[in-house]
Parts: sequence; C-alpha cells; structure tokens
Amino acid sequence: MEIVHTVNEMQKQADTLRQNLHKIAFVPTMGFLHEGHLSLVRAAKQYGDVVVVSIFVNPAQFAPHEDLDKYPRDFNRDQHLLEAEGVDIIFYPRVSEMYPRPYHTYVQVSDLTEALCGLSRPEHFKGVTTVVTKLFNIVKPHSAVFGQKDFQQSQVIKQMVIDLNMDVEIIRAPIVRETDGLAMSSRNKYLDPQQRKDARVLNSSLQTVRQMVQNGILKSTLLKEKIQEIISSVPCQIDYIEIVDAETFKNIDTVKDNTLFALAVKIGNTRLIDNFYIELLEKEKTWQ
Ligand code: PAJ
Repeated sequence: MEIVHTVNEMQKQADTLRQNLHKIAFVPTMGFLHEGHLSLVRAAKQYGDVVVVSIFVNPAQFAPHEDLDKYPRDFNRDQHLLEAEGVDIIFYPRVSEMYPRPYHTYVQVSDLTEALCGLSRPEHFKGVTTVVTKLFNIVKPHSAVFGQKDFQQSQVIKQMVIDLNMDVEIIRAPIVRETDGLAMSSRNKYLDPQQRKDARVLNSSLQTVRQMVQNGILKSTLLKEKIQEIISSVPCQIDYIEIVDAETFKNIDTVKDNTLFALAVKIGNTRLIDNFYIELLEKEKTWQ
C-alpha cells in the first residue's frame, strides 16, 4: 500500500494506472475510519482492481462554529485498517496542498442542497461538492463509493456528476450499524455513555415507522408524529424529521416508491443523522 501526499504525485499515478488499463475505484473519507468506511472499501473492490482511499478533513465543509478542530483523527490506525483491507493507495494531503492560497473556486449544486441538512448547514454541501470535484480531478477514478448514511450527500454528488458530465460512476452502499442499531459515525465518539444509549432512538424510531409502513400506514403526518414521539423520549434537540421524495427531497403526503425518511437530531452537542429509504413500496410490504 502506498501513501501519497501530493496532488502531482497522485495524478501521475492515476495516469499511469489508466494507461495500463486499470480500473480505479475511489472511496473519499475524512478518516477516523470505522466499519462503515471499510464496507465502502469492500464495495469498491467490486468496481475496480485498484482501490484508492482519500483521508482529508475538509475545512470547506465545516461552518466556523462546527467541529473542524476537534474532528477525530488517527492516521496510524486508519493506515493499518486500510492495509488490512488490501487498499492500494491512500491519498493523504495537507490542507495547504488541497487549498493553496489564493483559492477562489467552488462547485455548488442548487435545490437538492436547500433541503434537509442544507437548511441548518447552508455552506456544507458547497464544501463537499468542491472537495469531491477536486478529489475526482486528482484521483481520476472510474467509480466512487459513497454511503447511504449520508443519503443527501450521495444524491447531491450523483446530481453534480450528471450535471457536470463527470465520467465517474457513483455507487451508494448501505448503512453499517452498531449492534444496537445506531448508525456508525466518527462523531459517535463525542457521546457520553448516557447519550450513547439515548442515541438508539434515531434508528428505533425509523424501525417503528418502517413497521407501520409495512402495516399499510402511509400518511406522512402520522409517521412523522410517531418518529417525533419516540425521539422526544430522550433529551435532545430535533433538527428535522422529514419524509421526502428520495430524488427531489420535496415533502410527500403519502409514502410511495422512492421515499426517504431522514432525520437529524442533536444529542448534547453532537448532531447525528440517520435515514431509511423505500425504493419499492411493494417490496417493503412483502418483507412483513
Ligand atoms: P466521512 O464522514 O468520513 O464519510 C466517508 C464516507 O463514509 C461517506 O460516503 C459516508 O456516507 C460513509 N459512511 C459514514 N458512515 C457510514 C456508515 N455507518 N455506513 C456506511 N457508510 C458510511 O462523508 C464524508 O466523510 C465527506 O463529506 C467526504 C465525502 C469525504 C468529502 O469530504
């Protein structure tokens, strides 16, 4: 496994790999890796014979009041985990390598970024789409894997790739959870033991409404009320609970094919997100 620190070196390696007809599969991350990230690496192996993982805590996607400085980092541990997964290259640049001064260019996707997390994090997706564009130009991947955990992020990136004719296949991989159902996240580390227990309500509320949908209750108002009731049973601040069309993120009144249930909740100072996605309502019903 190689560790590449500079844009120039990564681009040269990508060019050589492409000349030798390798398929580059790419997993962008901010490090402090967990099983969720590693599941993306395993998925990437199905799409390319060379897997590149980037580790870069991207300042452009954090608002000034957010957790950029305290975002957890442990490169040595990440390196060992990726080595064990058989990753070929880690791209691990410094901030000054990615954003040399002066820096003036941003990529912004409209509409999709103005719903859900975009409302409380208005600059966030602009930072994500900018860095992902830069990483695509540096790593030159044929395909890139993103997690459903950040459903909106993956949808925004899919849209960007279509709109800007980027020649990268975007793959969305399922959410990996702790044994009690909490979606894995680097930010779970911020939770104290009681908060960690309370955080289970995110997934349990989604599981409850999934069951309601399976029982034929499809009205969004009823389902949202149920989610709210379950989440409010612990001390927290609800950012949003939304039931939306998974492609447009517009609110829907009645659950149908392609519906996204998404929520963001602050427990203490830690903002957690979770979601579930119904692709085909009929299939959901047959799972009873
Ligand atoms: P990060 O939060 O490190 O996540 C990297 C990738 O791992 C994302 O695609 C995310 O959706 C996925 N992921 C996180 N938790 C997961 C889980 N429990 N199950 C499955 N996948 C999971 O997302 C980012 O970094 C950044 O915004 C980035 C895309 C790297 C741009 O800076």
